[in-house]
Amino acid sequence: MKERTDLQGDAKPADSSATGAGPLLVVWWSATGGTEQLARAAADAAAGSDPGDAVVLLRCDLAGPEAVSSAGGYLFCTPENLASMAGMMKDFFDRCYYPVLDRIVARPYASIVCAGSDGTGATRQIDRIATGWRLRRVAEPMIVLTDAQTPEAILAPKRIDEVSLQAARDLGEAMAAGIGMGIW
Ligand SMILES: Cc1cc2nc3c(=O)[nH]c(=O)nc-3n(C[C@H](O)[C@H](O)[C@H](O)COP(=O)(O)O)c2cc1C
Repeated sequence: MKERTDLQGDAKPADSSATGAGPLLVVWWSATGGTEQLARAAADAAAGSDPGDAVVLLRCDLAGPEAVSSAGGYLFCTPENLASMAGMMKDFFDRCYYPVLDRIVARPYASIVCAGSDGTGATRQIDRIATGWRLRRVAEPMIVLTDAQTPEAILAPKRIDEVSLQAARDLGEAMAAGIGMGIW
Protein backbone atom coordinates (compact mmCIF):
# COMPACT_ATOMS: atom_id res chain seq x y z
CA MET A 1 0.00 0.00 0.00
CA LYS A 2 1.17 3.50 -0.73
CA GLU A 3 0.66 6.29 1.77
CA ARG A 4 1.94 9.83 1.53
CA THR A 5 2.27 11.64 4.83
CA ASP A 6 4.26 14.69 3.82
CA LEU A 7 2.90 18.01 2.64
CA GLN A 8 4.50 18.08 -0.77
CA GLY A 9 1.26 18.54 -2.62
CA ASP A 10 -0.74 16.15 -4.70
CA ALA A 11 0.20 12.53 -4.16
CA LYS A 12 -0.13 10.49 -7.29
CA PRO A 13 -1.19 6.85 -7.13
CA ALA A 14 0.77 4.59 -9.42
CA ASP A 15 -1.04 2.46 -11.99
CA SER A 16 -1.68 -0.72 -10.19
CA SER A 17 -3.67 -3.82 -10.66
CA ALA A 18 -3.49 -6.75 -12.98
CA THR A 19 -6.18 -5.20 -15.16
CA GLY A 20 -4.28 -1.95 -15.48
CA ALA A 21 -6.98 -0.06 -13.61
CA GLY A 22 -5.77 2.49 -11.10
CA PRO A 23 -5.69 1.70 -7.41
CA LEU A 24 -8.43 2.07 -4.84
CA LEU A 25 -8.00 5.56 -3.38
CA VAL A 26 -8.95 5.63 0.31
CA VAL A 27 -9.21 9.29 1.21
CA TRP A 28 -10.00 10.29 4.78
CA TRP A 29 -10.22 12.92 7.46
CA SER A 30 -10.48 12.43 11.20
CA ALA A 31 -10.34 14.74 14.22
CA THR A 32 -10.56 12.26 17.08
CA GLY A 33 -9.34 9.09 15.40
CA GLY A 34 -12.50 7.15 14.61
CA THR A 35 -12.60 7.66 10.87
CA GLU A 36 -8.84 7.17 10.63
CA GLN A 37 -9.10 3.72 12.24
CA LEU A 38 -11.84 2.74 9.81
CA ALA A 39 -9.97 4.08 6.77
CA ARG A 40 -6.77 2.29 7.78
CA ALA A 41 -8.65 -0.97 8.39
CA ALA A 42 -10.23 -0.74 4.94
CA ALA A 43 -6.95 0.15 3.26
CA ASP A 44 -4.98 -2.59 5.06
CA ALA A 45 -7.52 -5.18 3.98
CA ALA A 46 -7.61 -3.79 0.46
CA ALA A 47 -3.85 -4.13 0.24
CA GLY A 48 -4.13 -7.71 1.55
CA SER A 49 -1.06 -9.72 0.77
CA ASP A 50 -0.36 -7.58 -2.29
CA PRO A 51 2.64 -5.39 -1.50
CA GLY A 52 2.04 -3.45 -4.72
CA ASP A 53 -0.19 -0.61 -5.73
CA ALA A 54 -3.75 -1.92 -5.29
CA VAL A 55 -4.58 0.76 -2.74
CA VAL A 56 -3.48 4.28 -1.91
CA LEU A 57 -4.35 5.72 1.49
CA LEU A 58 -4.32 9.51 1.66
CA ARG A 59 -5.39 12.00 4.28
CA CYS A 60 -7.62 14.35 2.34
CA ASP A 61 -5.41 17.42 2.66
CA LEU A 62 -2.68 15.46 0.84
CA ALA A 63 -4.98 14.34 -1.95
CA GLY A 64 -5.60 16.40 -5.05
CA PRO A 65 -6.91 16.09 -8.61
CA GLU A 66 -4.03 13.95 -9.80
CA ALA A 67 -4.63 11.33 -7.11
CA VAL A 68 -8.33 11.32 -7.95
CA SER A 69 -7.94 11.09 -11.71
CA SER A 70 -5.41 8.25 -11.60
CA ALA A 71 -7.38 6.08 -9.15
CA GLY A 72 -9.57 3.19 -10.27
CA GLY A 73 -12.17 3.71 -7.54
CA TYR A 74 -12.79 5.58 -4.31
CA LEU A 75 -13.54 5.03 -0.66
CA PHE A 76 -14.47 8.37 0.90
CA CYS A 77 -14.13 8.36 4.69
CA THR A 78 -15.21 11.31 6.84
CA PRO A 79 -16.63 12.24 10.22
CA GLU A 80 -20.01 13.94 10.29
CA ASN A 81 -19.78 17.45 11.69
CA LEU A 82 -22.85 19.66 12.09
CA ALA A 83 -24.85 17.37 9.82
CA SER A 84 -22.22 17.72 7.06
CA MET A 85 -19.03 16.05 6.03
CA ALA A 86 -15.94 17.42 7.83
CA GLY A 87 -14.78 20.76 6.45
CA MET A 88 -11.40 19.35 5.44
CA MET A 89 -13.14 16.67 3.40
CA LYS A 90 -15.33 19.30 1.76
CA ASP A 91 -12.18 21.23 0.89
CA PHE A 92 -10.80 18.10 -0.81
CA PHE A 93 -13.94 17.86 -2.95
CA ASP A 94 -13.89 21.61 -3.64
CA ARG A 95 -10.29 21.43 -4.85
CA CYS A 96 -10.83 18.35 -7.00
CA TYR A 97 -14.36 18.69 -8.34
CA TYR A 98 -13.83 20.70 -11.54
CA PRO A 99 -10.31 19.52 -12.40
CA VAL A 100 -11.51 15.89 -12.73
CA LEU A 101 -15.08 16.47 -13.90
CA ASP A 102 -15.85 14.22 -16.92
CA ARG A 103 -12.54 12.37 -16.46
CA ILE A 104 -13.65 9.80 -13.85
CA VAL A 105 -17.13 8.93 -15.11
CA ALA A 106 -18.56 5.54 -14.03
CA ARG A 107 -15.76 4.69 -11.63
CA PRO A 108 -16.88 2.86 -8.46
CA TYR A 109 -17.12 4.46 -5.04
CA ALA A 110 -18.25 3.78 -1.50
CA SER A 111 -18.23 5.76 1.73
CA ILE A 112 -17.60 5.41 5.44
CA VAL A 113 -19.02 8.08 7.74
CA CYS A 114 -18.09 8.09 11.42
CA ALA A 115 -20.68 9.98 13.44
CA GLY A 116 -21.87 10.47 16.97
CA SER A 117 -25.52 9.64 16.42
CA ASP A 118 -26.52 10.28 12.80
CA GLY A 119 -24.22 10.22 9.75
CA THR A 120 -26.89 10.60 7.09
CA GLY A 121 -26.16 14.25 6.30
CA ALA A 122 -22.52 13.59 5.43
CA THR A 123 -23.47 10.50 3.44
CA ARG A 124 -26.02 12.48 1.43
CA GLN A 125 -23.46 15.17 0.63
CA ILE A 126 -20.93 12.63 -0.60
CA ASP A 127 -23.60 11.03 -2.78
CA ARG A 128 -24.55 14.37 -4.33
CA ILE A 129 -20.95 15.14 -5.24
CA ALA A 130 -20.42 11.61 -6.54
CA THR A 131 -23.55 11.97 -8.64
CA GLY A 132 -22.07 15.14 -10.15
CA TRP A 133 -18.92 13.21 -10.97
CA ARG A 134 -21.14 10.42 -12.31
CA LEU A 135 -19.47 7.81 -10.14
CA ARG A 136 -21.25 4.54 -9.32
CA ARG A 137 -21.93 3.57 -5.71
CA VAL A 138 -20.97 -0.10 -5.39
CA ALA A 139 -21.64 -0.70 -1.70
CA GLU A 140 -24.27 0.44 0.78
CA PRO A 141 -23.27 3.56 2.73
CA MET A 142 -21.40 2.56 5.87
CA ILE A 143 -22.15 4.67 8.95
CA VAL A 144 -20.37 3.94 12.22
CA LEU A 145 -21.80 5.57 15.35
CA THR A 146 -19.50 6.41 18.26
CA ASP A 147 -22.37 7.56 20.53
CA ALA A 148 -20.54 10.83 21.18
CA GLN A 149 -23.13 13.46 22.04
CA THR A 150 -21.84 15.48 25.01
CA PRO A 151 -19.01 17.97 24.44
CA GLU A 152 -16.67 15.77 26.51
CA ALA A 153 -17.51 12.62 24.57
CA ILE A 154 -17.22 14.42 21.25
CA LEU A 155 -13.73 15.72 22.03
CA ALA A 156 -12.48 12.38 23.42
CA PRO A 157 -10.28 10.08 21.30
CA LYS A 158 -12.42 7.38 19.68
CA ARG A 159 -11.89 3.66 19.72
CA ILE A 160 -13.82 1.82 16.99
CA ASP A 161 -15.27 -1.56 17.90
CA GLU A 162 -14.03 -4.72 16.24
CA VAL A 163 -17.30 -5.43 14.42
CA SER A 164 -17.15 -2.05 12.68
CA LEU A 165 -13.45 -2.44 11.89
CA GLN A 166 -14.20 -5.82 10.34
CA ALA A 167 -16.97 -4.29 8.25
CA ALA A 168 -14.50 -1.66 7.03
CA ARG A 169 -11.99 -4.41 6.18
CA ASP A 170 -14.63 -6.32 4.25
CA LEU A 171 -15.55 -3.19 2.32
CA GLY A 172 -11.96 -2.31 1.47
CA GLU A 173 -11.18 -5.85 0.41
CA ALA A 174 -14.27 -6.11 -1.78
CA MET A 175 -13.58 -2.79 -3.47
CA ALA A 176 -9.95 -3.57 -4.23
CA ALA A 177 -10.92 -7.02 -5.53
CA GLY A 178 -13.67 -5.60 -7.73
CA ILE A 179 -11.38 -2.96 -9.19
CA GLY A 180 -8.56 -5.47 -9.66
CA MET A 181 -10.82 -7.90 -11.49
CA GLY A 182 -12.39 -5.16 -13.53
CA ILE A 183 -15.93 -6.14 -12.56
CA TRP A 184 -17.16 -2.52 -12.34
C1 LIG B 1 -18.08 20.18 15.61
C2 LIG B 1 -18.67 18.78 15.64
C3 LIG B 1 -19.92 18.59 15.11
C4 LIG B 1 -20.49 17.30 15.11
N1 LIG B 1 -21.70 17.12 14.53
C5 LIG B 1 -22.23 15.89 14.46
C6 LIG B 1 -23.45 15.66 13.76
O1 LIG B 1 -24.04 16.57 13.17
N2 LIG B 1 -23.98 14.42 13.74
C7 LIG B 1 -23.35 13.37 14.37
O2 LIG B 1 -23.87 12.26 14.32
N3 LIG B 1 -22.17 13.55 15.03
C8 LIG B 1 -21.60 14.77 15.08
N4 LIG B 1 -20.39 14.97 15.71
C9 LIG B 1 -19.73 13.82 16.33
C10 LIG B 1 -18.63 13.22 15.46
O3 LIG B 1 -19.15 12.85 14.20
C11 LIG B 1 -18.06 11.98 16.14
O4 LIG B 1 -17.39 12.39 17.32
C12 LIG B 1 -17.12 11.17 15.28
O5 LIG B 1 -16.71 10.06 16.01
C13 LIG B 1 -15.94 11.98 14.82
O6 LIG B 1 -15.12 11.20 13.97
P1 LIG B 1 -13.54 11.21 14.15
O7 LIG B 1 -13.23 10.47 15.44
O8 LIG B 1 -12.99 10.51 12.96
O9 LIG B 1 -13.08 12.62 14.22
C14 LIG B 1 -19.78 16.22 15.69
C15 LIG B 1 -18.50 16.45 16.22
C16 LIG B 1 -17.95 17.71 16.18
C17 LIG B 1 -16.56 17.92 16.74
